[in-house]
Amino acid sequence: MSKTKIPAFFMLMLLLVLTGCGGGGRNEDADASAPADNAVAQQEAPAEEDAPPAGDAAEGEKIFNQTCIACHGEGGVGVQNLGKDMTHSEFIAGLSDDELVDFIKTGRDTSDPLNTTGVAMPSRGGNPALSDEDLFDVVAYIRTIHE
Ligand code: HEC
Repeated sequence: MSKTKIPAFFMLMLLLVLTGCGGGGRNEDADASAPADNAVAQQEAPAEEDAPPAGDAAEGEKIFNQTCIACHGEGGVGVQNLGKDMTHSEFIAGLSDDELVDFIKTGRDTSDPLNTTGVAMPSRGGNPALSDEDLFDVVAYIRTIHE
């Protein structure tokens, strides 16, 4: 048992060092093997499972109604010659929450070949004050209006 456990632990530490995540490296040689193992397990869990980030849809609705509604309409039904309908979008349905947040952060300029309307989707809906967390809330809201 100890034969397999020790190399595994060193592999993990090596991984930490290689990925630059070994922030707490000062006392890890002392006696911190158990806590370090736990820390590794906790850090890796979300990345491996691609766990859905728990955005708050109620918060997201408020943010949507402040920033996105002007172009995307009440309830995200779209506004002609402005933002697209979000309630039936296959594009939205095909993206994970992470991907959707990335999309909103980037926007879709008119120079983007994927632009479908000739109108720009501004980065973060034109509101640079929105944090990534805000955007996950908006995405949670978008999931509730999507049919
Ligand atoms: C200034 C107007 C404007 C604002 C504000 C705006 N959008 Fe958009 N958005 C657009 C336009 C225009 C498109 C379509 C771009 C194209 O032609 O492909 C779009 C597209 C999108 C799409 C892709 C839809 C699809 O089916 O392709 C998403 C998702 C989206 N917007 C989310 C948001 C969110 C979330 C906000 C608020 C944080 C927001 N938008 C604010 C104009 C806007």
